Amino acid sequence: MTQQTVATTPIAGQKPGTSGLRKKTRVFMAPGYLENYVQAIFDGIGGVAGKTLVIGGDGRYFNETATGTILAMAAANGAARCIVGQGGLLSTPAASHLIRTRGADGGLILSASHNPGGPDADFGVKYNGPNGGPAPEAVTAAIHARTLDITEYHVFTGGAVALDRLGQARLGNMAVEVVDPVADYAALMEELFDFEAISALLRGGFRVRFDAMHAVTGPYAREILETRLGAPAGTVVNAVPDPTFGGGHPDPNPVWAADLMARMQAEDAPDFGAASDGDGDRNMILGRNCYVGPSDSLAVLADRAHLAPGYAGGLAGVARSMPTSAAADRVAEARGMACYETPTGWKFFGNLLDAGRVTLCGEESAGTGSAHVREKDGLWAVLLWLNILAVSGKSVAGLMTDHWARYGRNYYSRHDYEGVDSAVAEAIMADLEARLDDLPGAQAAGLTVARADVFSYHDPVDGSVATAQGLRVFFEGGARVVLRLSGTGTEGATLRLYLERLETDAGALHQDPQAALAPVIAATEALTGIAARTGRRAPDVMT
Ligand code: G1P
Ligand code: ZN
Repeated sequence: MTQQTVATTPIAGQKPGTSGLRKKTRVFMAPGYLENYVQAIFDGIGGVAGKTLVIGGDGRYFNETATGTILAMAAANGAARCIVGQGGLLSTPAASHLIRTRGADGGLILSASHNPGGPDADFGVKYNGPNGGPAPEAVTAAIHARTLDITEYHVFTGGAVALDRLGQARLGNMAVEVVDPVADYAALMEELFDFEAISALLRGGFRVRFDAMHAVTGPYAREILETRLGAPAGTVVNAVPDPTFGGGHPDPNPVWAADLMARMQAEDAPDFGAASDGDGDRNMILGRNCYVGPSDSLAVLADRAHLAPGYAGGLAGVARSMPTSAAADRVAEARGMACYETPTGWKFFGNLLDAGRVTLCGEESAGTGSAHVREKDGLWAVLLWLNILAVSGKSVAGLMTDHWARYGRNYYSRHDYEGVDSAVAEAIMADLEARLDDLPGAQAAGLTVARADVFSYHDPVDGSVATAQGLRVFFEGGARVVLRLSGTGTEGATLRLYLERLETDAGALHQDPQAALAPVIAATEALTGIAARTGRRAPDVMT
């Protein structure tokens, strides 16, 4: 047989509890490193003999080479079939959809999400299970365990598949099917949304600017917005996936999508602006002079999703990650929907979606999605917004004004301190945690602490428990701060503060969020001393 078994030693690559592995690209390119991790995944999921896998990535540097390596390893490990996106491309939501619609046993997605790409930037691999979603804790634990005791990997050496050629091919005994990465996904979007209404809106002169940030959603957005919905050519910008994402971070936030932000504030601004990230699962939504925060976006979508055909029957419920604002909870309460609060990370939504308990879910970190796949989905969120705008006839700013008038406004901001000395960050967390029980009743910069705890989650579907998911301090009058350490950073520690304050006074609904949150920011500093302890005068990023 034209295959090799290569001896290897453990790389201990994946942190327990994380759903994949992100490293510098050069680390992944070192001889045997990618192979080592991929074999650990195959072994950790009980082998791939006879299985069908979906494979593709976000087009970053090393994507196509890595796709070829993974195919060769799947063949050597006895997989029956691999379905791979042409050129090795698949957005994360499109990969999730393909796994589901083809009844595959799982998939490997090559991406480091919104991190930069290139030989000196970042690369990543993650395994998604047969439901199309990030692997649950038990599976990632098994993969992690395998990275600690792996001794060999297997790779097919008898040829390669031309990834640019659509259709059927073979690699040894394994069938390989190279598919159009966009077709099945675009068909799903046509089922969910009222393309006629959106198309009529666009024909009526409603102008859209979608910034694909040189990443994977370019071809998807062009096909759907320009070809199928008839938006003018040029509606999608930075539409060709580039291995280095044009040298930037494919991260749809006001900092990295500054050009789009500026255009949406210009005199001749389009009516609607949006962006997605490297692998197409995150989104940013903008109107003229109007930035819609992810927590507010989730709330508006939960309130009005029924305007789209795919959700016309109403929503079973809505779920949000704990640090996400409670704006969606207010909608759920008013509409009599179930509402769940989960730890940070999309994998926690999987059971709720699989069990039919929720239809919509979202995170404050620019992730929104629904039961149509098992990942967050950037372009889906954009299309749901466009569907709502088309049917309601309102502007983005008009929808937000209506929403806040009805439900009140959960002022919200996340402050990130990046590259903090890990010992300092851990001490800040530990010191606050040690005082949580004494905090109720305490004064901090004029606010009174109502209660404080460490968030843990009991999954209502499978009974599993996730502990230590962040520190929460609630203040009298409906304000809250959450502290947590990032699980995805690559250098030092990233300390995240999630600040929130509910305002129901109609006269005070249009303030600048940072100003509206000033009392909560001051109270947090009084409780933690972050500025003094990190030596930082301000957060590195505020979203
Ligand atoms: C971040 C986000 C989180 C998201 C994750 C993966 O994780 O905060 O919401 O699920 O990326 O996209 P963190 O770095 O905070 O652990
Ligand atoms: Zn992403």
